[in-house]
Amino acid sequence: MQSEKNKILRIAQITDSHLFADSSQKLNGLDTLNSLQQVMQAVLDSQPELIIFSGDLVDRPEAAAYFAVKSVLDLSTVPVFCLPGNHDDPDLLKETLSSEKIHNDFSTLVNNWQLLFLNSYQPNTHAGKLGDNQLQMLDKHLRKHSEYSALICLHHPPVPIHSSWMDAMGLEQSEELFAVVDRHPQVKAVIWGHIHQQFNQTRNGVKLLGTPSTCVQFMPGASQFCLDNKPPGYRWLELYENGAITTEVIYLPDFDCPGNGLA
Ligand SMILES: [Fe+2]
Repeated sequence: MQSEKNKILRIAQITDSHLFADSSQKLNGLDTLNSLQQVMQAVLDSQPELIIFSGDLVDRPEAAAYFAVKSVLDLSTVPVFCLPGNHDDPDLLKETLSSEKIHNDFSTLVNNWQLLFLNSYQPNTHAGKLGDNQLQMLDKHLRKHSEYSALICLHHPPVPIHSSWMDAMGLEQSEELFAVVDRHPQVKAVIWGHIHQQFNQTRNGVKLLGTPSTCVQFMPGASQFCLDNKPPGYRWLELYENGAITTEVIYLPDFDCPGNGLA
């Protein structure tokens, strides 16, 4: 049983929790701290080996909001890897959320997988971009560990999701990311947050996966801001020794969703 278990790396991706400094504040009627707590409980009940938190941890980057995030992440029994989104302050995130359990590293090696955590934040815009430094580091890490299968994580979607208002704030110059990906056939998937909905596409055999938020969800295909009434969710990933991936999006069952009717 043990050897069988070691062949699969079980990961949960959570994203876009949008916590506030003032815990009484809500996002479109939803208590984001409460929904993050509920998602974290569901995640921990599923016994992942590692958690990826892919940005927009807070709604506005204030230390008190990050401490609220920390109060939830401290419940984790497994390592949590955080990367910033457009609502974050990358420096403040690192400053407030580094601990023995909470990590802000660029990459980590687990089993025979390399997990890479990119920073697509740029100031004064909701759109994302990977600077030369990020792209060079990505290329370097992939070259160094070419025998490991690779999973790339970032906040912004590198492809259009067919929702025009969201596509206006996706990853700029994503062809630069794909130029690196195309040089390294061990890259098996790129995963992101930001879009508050699930997305699933394949490009040259690489899975491209968007994940719903731990709070409110957006309506797929919408041309302007519009809430969906789906409950908070997260993504489950199983990474196999041979480079295969199975994945599933899970929404909280029986969640009383105040987003109903708000769209
Ligand atoms: Fe975002």
